[in-house]
Amino acid sequence: MTDRPRRLRRTASLRELAAETHIAAEELIQPHFVIGDETRTEPIAALPGISRMGLDPLLAQVESDLEHGVRHTLLFAVTDAKDATGSAGVLAASPAHRACTALAKQFGDDLTIIADVCLCTYTDHGHCGILRDGKVANDESLPHLARQAVSLAEAGADVIAPSDMMDGRVRAIREALDTAGFGDRAILSYAAKYASSFYGPFREAADSAPKNEGPKDRKGYQMDYRNRGEAVREALLDIAEGADMVMVKPALAYLDVISDVKAAVDRPVAAYLVSGEYAAVELMAREGLARREDLAREHMFAVKRAGADMLITYHARDALAGGWL
Ligand code: PBG
Repeated sequence: MTDRPRRLRRTASLRELAAETHIAAEELIQPHFVIGDETRTEPIAALPGISRMGLDPLLAQVESDLEHGVRHTLLFAVTDAKDATGSAGVLAASPAHRACTALAKQFGDDLTIIADVCLCTYTDHGHCGILRDGKVANDESLPHLARQAVSLAEAGADVIAPSDMMDGRVRAIREALDTAGFGDRAILSYAAKYASSFYGPFREAADSAPKNEGPKDRKGYQMDYRNRGEAVREALLDIAEGADMVMVKPALAYLDVISDVKAAVDRPVAAYLVSGEYAAVELMAREGLARREDLAREHMFAVKRAGADMLITYHARDALAGGWL
């Protein structure tokens, strides 16, 4: 035998030396669910270890996360203020907007504030666009999304992250941001966002599932998981419309897609380890089947190895605070 791969696996330090993949703290993004009640913390049953937070606990959490090196946050609003057009999504008084303003004031450029843009938390039917004759109307939804994006930029968001999957929304948002004087704010588009069952816990956390009106699911706008080539088409389209970074979501069942998108684009690629992927780790760990940090670490490295430049994960804080990366 001339070639013995085990030579490089003999000691822990040799394995460190030979490791092909590394994850830096700077590549991790921690999602947060923000509620209106300023002092409140509500643990989310479906996401053990994650809570919906009002402004006070959020600021304290982000401060301690920053000390551990978590420099980037992704904000989702959770609100009861719902109507047919998601009008609360443009209000400076809405939870995500207030969080942007408070976080920007307290942490300045030390923190990247990424604001999710979508209608589903703000609509009473729970769809990501406007309903017209029982269908999700694409073009009619665009101005609503664009206004929400501008309002979040006004509130202090550094990055706008549209997750709605309407066609043409990146261009609409880019134009609206530029017109409003926010030509310097970046867009991270959820470019290849699949209609996935792994969003289940999120929809409970954000109260954003499709309700009794309109289509029963999101398959008319989110991608079909049988499709691979279409993901590259979506990513290139979003970049042509003005996306600065593109996302693949979910991550684990889509490693081929992450790899393809990374090869096809000249922009940073983000991958989102979604709520169901997080919950799967937590539930296995709870059953004593494996250690949560081992499971989560393996997931994170798989996604990085596939080509992701940045990881959105509910485990970001634990990974850095626990030092297990
Ligand atoms: C809203 C949105 C969803 C997620 C992010 N933004 C849910 C959905 O599309 O139903 C899912 C995130 C997660 O599961 O962690 N459009």
